[in-house]
Amino acid sequence: MPTSSTIMDANSFRPEMMDSLDEATRTLVKRREILGPSYRLFYQEPLHLVRGRGTRLFDADGTEYLDVYNNVVSVGHCHPRVVDAIQKQVAELNTHSRYLHENILNYAEDIVSTLPEAINRIMFMCSGSEANDLAVRVAKAYSGGTGIIVSSEAYHGNTALIEKLSPALGGDQPMAIDMRMIPTPDSYRLDTDDLGTWMADQVRAAIADMQRHSIKFAGLLADSIFSSDGIYPTPAGYLKPVIDAVHEAGGIWIADEVQPGFTRTGESFWGFQRHGITPDVVTMGKPMANGMPCSGMAVRAEVLDAFAQKTPYFNTFAGNPVSMAAAQATLNVMRDEDTQGNALRVGTAFRDAVAERMNAHPCIGDVRGSGLYIGAEIVAPGTKTPDHATAIAIIEDLRKRHVLTSVCGAGGNVLKLRPPLVFSMDDLDIFLNAFDKTLTSLHL
Ligand SMILES: Cc1ncc(COP(=O)(O)O)c(C=O)c1O
Repeated sequence: MPTSSTIMDANSFRPEMMDSLDEATRTLVKRREILGPSYRLFYQEPLHLVRGRGTRLFDADGTEYLDVYNNVVSVGHCHPRVVDAIQKQVAELNTHSRYLHENILNYAEDIVSTLPEAINRIMFMCSGSEANDLAVRVAKAYSGGTGIIVSSEAYHGNTALIEKLSPALGGDQPMAIDMRMIPTPDSYRLDTDDLGTWMADQVRAAIADMQRHSIKFAGLLADSIFSSDGIYPTPAGYLKPVIDAVHEAGGIWIADEVQPGFTRTGESFWGFQRHGITPDVVTMGKPMANGMPCSGMAVRAEVLDAFAQKTPYFNTFAGNPVSMAAAQATLNVMRDEDTQGNALRVGTAFRDAVAERMNAHPCIGDVRGSGLYIGAEIVAPGTKTPDHATAIAIIEDLRKRHVLTSVCGAGGNVLKLRPPLVFSMDDLDIFLNAFDKTLTSLHL
């Protein structure tokens, strides 16, 4: 089966591998047919995980794995302070946000205090998709336009509105008629020493094309490290002229912080802060509550108004006291354990160590990243041609060595190295040891 969706199919189990599975795994995989064919499993031999602690996961046989992939359990699997906060609150009360409760207010005030002063409202949802969905509705109401720009391998979620703004979903997924794609800011392949100006020009061209088709520009929806595009965080600051171009044309920038937010990049709490720019809307999700379904959309009050004065919003499970307790405990741990400092320290050592291997292993064409979000391009040696098959061979071999990673990018060839934020130097040693053995055993 060819890769039809870069984000869903690059590292996925294929039904024709069924016969090679042991009986217990095959039974579970077969039982999953009840879920229908849209679901994808990771790895040729899917993993059956039953327990997690910190940066480690354990399968049903008790085998331990190092998690170098997970940015949902930001402060580590089953962090005791988050578990405790959830347990206490769920034993007390869990209900929706149409009654007064302190948890939602305490958390709202706390998280808004981490954002630029201009962003002074926050609403809660249950997933990143829902946060982006509401953000796009808000952008449309504020601007009076419908045209949204995204990058060409963007993934922003799965609602009816957002899937049409998520080209990485691929397959037969139709894109929105008033959406325009700009190319990935591919710092590795593009022939420019001014990525920001190049990208601002792409944005201006997309807006001009909208105008030619009588589409009023509403805004740019982008995550500041272009994670599904293949991880392009550098140079810090390159997004400044891009956002200036958006504002010049009367649009707004929705900073999708689902991936780079919550100290991930090590250089700042939010990914956009590395670029010295203030978004109009910030969406957040995955790492927010260490695995509890919880997301948010923060926004300038005047941007929210056009939507909120006319449209009521209710989301049954969003902002409930248990989710808010989990989010608050996660934020407290991020501060107390200095996950930002850890992401910078360990992430820099991580990126440098992988880059050091480029000479001996010419299949590694480029290593880039910020904090604990690192991408390593696997290419045909001596070229910049993506080598998807080798990237998959690497992650499959690492899995056999009990190290979990994945791939991203249009070519499905960028190793995605994105562990929980509490990843330590000892964890890094374990990864490097396995990585060296993988590269040598595959003769790379
Ligand atoms: C950048 C980005 N935005 C939004 C989403 C959607 O989040 P969710 O899966 O919580 O709906 C994702 C999920 O992978 C993402 O990577």
